[in-house]
Amino acid sequence: MSERHRLVVGNWKMHETAGQAENLARAVLAALPPLDARAHSEVVLAPPFTALAAVHAVVADSVVALGAQNMHWGESGAYTGEISAPMLLDLGVRYVILGHSERRRYFHESDEEINRKVRAALSHGLMPIVAVGETADERDTGMTDARVVAQTSAALDGVEPANLARLALAYEPVWAIGTGRNCPPAEADRVMGCIRGTLPGLEHTRILYGGSVTPANFASYLACENCDGGLIGGASLDANAFVQLAILALAA
Ligand code: PGA
Repeated sequence: MSERHRLVVGNWKMHETAGQAENLARAVLAALPPLDARAHSEVVLAPPFTALAAVHAVVADSVVALGAQNMHWGESGAYTGEISAPMLLDLGVRYVILGHSERRRYFHESDEEINRKVRAALSHGLMPIVAVGETADERDTGMTDARVVAQTSAALDGVEPANLARLALAYEPVWAIGTGRNCPPAEADRVMGCIRGTLPGLEHTRILYGGSVTPANFASYLACENCDGGLIGGASLDANAFVQLAILALAA
């Protein structure tokens, strides 16, 4: 039996103004049954930067933690438009999603930049949630395993083995994100096993599945040996659906 605690993360992407985010966070908290603190399972909301303070005001002192969707690797400096780890910590953020495929694809984030961000997040005590996954073309050409292993080892380059349990990985096949075409759970489990095998020490690291997760399919992922939770996009914008996912994860 794994000792890894479940983790469910709602990635709100570029949705919700501060006021809307506050309402959504309130709705999540209102629907969430009392959680057993001894379970040590984690539920995280990751709103846009502009809504972090509003959501923090709602979730502070609750079992729900705050996450960001990106950060810069520097402490401060001439990086117009960027946000640093100390700025996130100041807003009560504890988790940060790094290397999401939308960041890689639309903002050309490289493996090397993602690695710098992972190391910076760890050095500030933030928990990185590092996303990896193949495109449809890579899957069709038999490159899936090589791609996720390369992304994982690049993202974790130079990370102390003792820090591997202080980060989480998310397997998010790019073709499954926001498409309604979720990866069959057995195949997702196989790829998550491959990710776990990238480095010694990853047996203690949480690996999440992400890509068209819904309350109807999530239990099949949670039943997989290598799956420790979910990184949820679309379904996290619906308080009731997200709470159903959290309940499934905490019960599994
Ligand atoms: P989705 O997004 O659940 O809408 O597919 C997942 C993600 O991008 O993290």
